[in-house]
Amino acid sequence: MTTSPSTPVPRVLTGDRPTGPLHIGHLLGSLQSRVAMQASHECFVIVADLHTLTTRPQREHVGRLPANVRGVVLDLLSAGIDPQKSTIYLQSGVPAVYDLAILLQMLIPVSHLRSLASLAQMAKVAKLDDEHMSLGLLGYPVLQAADILMAQAELIPVGADNLAHVEIAREAAVRFNAMYGEVFPLPEGQSSRVQMLPGIGPDGPSASKMSKSAGNTINLGDAPEVVADKLRTLSGERLRSFIDALIDERERAEELVGEHQAGKLSDAAAHGLLIEAAEGLLAPLRERRAAFEGDQGLVEEILVDGTIRAREVAYGTLARVREAMGLEGLWKGLLDVAHERAEARKKPY
Ligand code: TRP
Repeated sequence: MTTSPSTPVPRVLTGDRPTGPLHIGHLLGSLQSRVAMQASHECFVIVADLHTLTTRPQREHVGRLPANVRGVVLDLLSAGIDPQKSTIYLQSGVPAVYDLAILLQMLIPVSHLRSLASLAQMAKVAKLDDEHMSLGLLGYPVLQAADILMAQAELIPVGADNLAHVEIAREAAVRFNAMYGEVFPLPEGQSSRVQMLPGIGPDGPSASKMSKSAGNTINLGDAPEVVADKLRTLSGERLRSFIDALIDERERAEELVGEHQAGKLSDAAAHGLLIEAAEGLLAPLRERRAAFEGDQGLVEEILVDGTIRAREVAYGTLARVREAMGLEGLWKGLLDVAHERAEARKKPY
């Protein structure tokens, strides 16, 4: 049996479901650190379209995938993910992941999936009660485990809600290695700095986290006027959270938060500072976005190239998995006998 196939530099896998545009919360919470990681790690960035089907299998949602996939790739590129360094790929373009997911399903007890808060939360958002929870949604973490193990990834930066999924992947890897021999390095989750960025809007009891579903986001592709208008809706505690998140220099941010709290910094003045800070953050993204958008077909080419590379890695892993489990041997055994029989039949008597 071959030993652990660790790459010289640790391989990282992260990614998103293409359900809509990425926002400034994504940028501060995870995209910036992904960009930084490119220098020291081999990064795979998955566009997890299959995972969107777990709660949105309807035709209308599937119909929106092409635009959403392109939008997410453009968001990643504009944030500074460099296609020369990172492999951006489309999950459904790597069908080997289905094969692996089926095999991993055998190793994960249903009870470990049923108890996951993340799945309960997704079911709730999708308005699916227990009766209507699909096998696919229950298996969400198994598919994610297949993504992770397929890429032989060791480091998985994810949001806090996804850490339990990385644990499932790890559990599957441990079991697989123990049963069939060392094939998978053990993946480790890394919680991306929790950016408790609230959504835009006035302060109040209904103030919630910035999220697509709440419709309170500042998107990476928003025009400067749109960003400014959105920032001007902020007040109170929400406004102070934004100062804390957007003003880079810690001391200065604390000072400003204190002044606002004490009524020495007006909302209007604070909005002005936030607009300036947001522009500093988003202007370089806009420039890169325009460059990628202006080059007809480039975004598609990048995604196709990345997916082809991911397919190579995936088929390599799948071959080793089938070999380790004896499935390849089973098929070869059948072929050998059938071949012998064919040879024998060719005999002239
Ligand atoms: N589950 C992730 C999300 O919440 C997306 C995802 C799918 C993923 N497969 C992955 C993340 C593998 C990291 C590694 O959007």
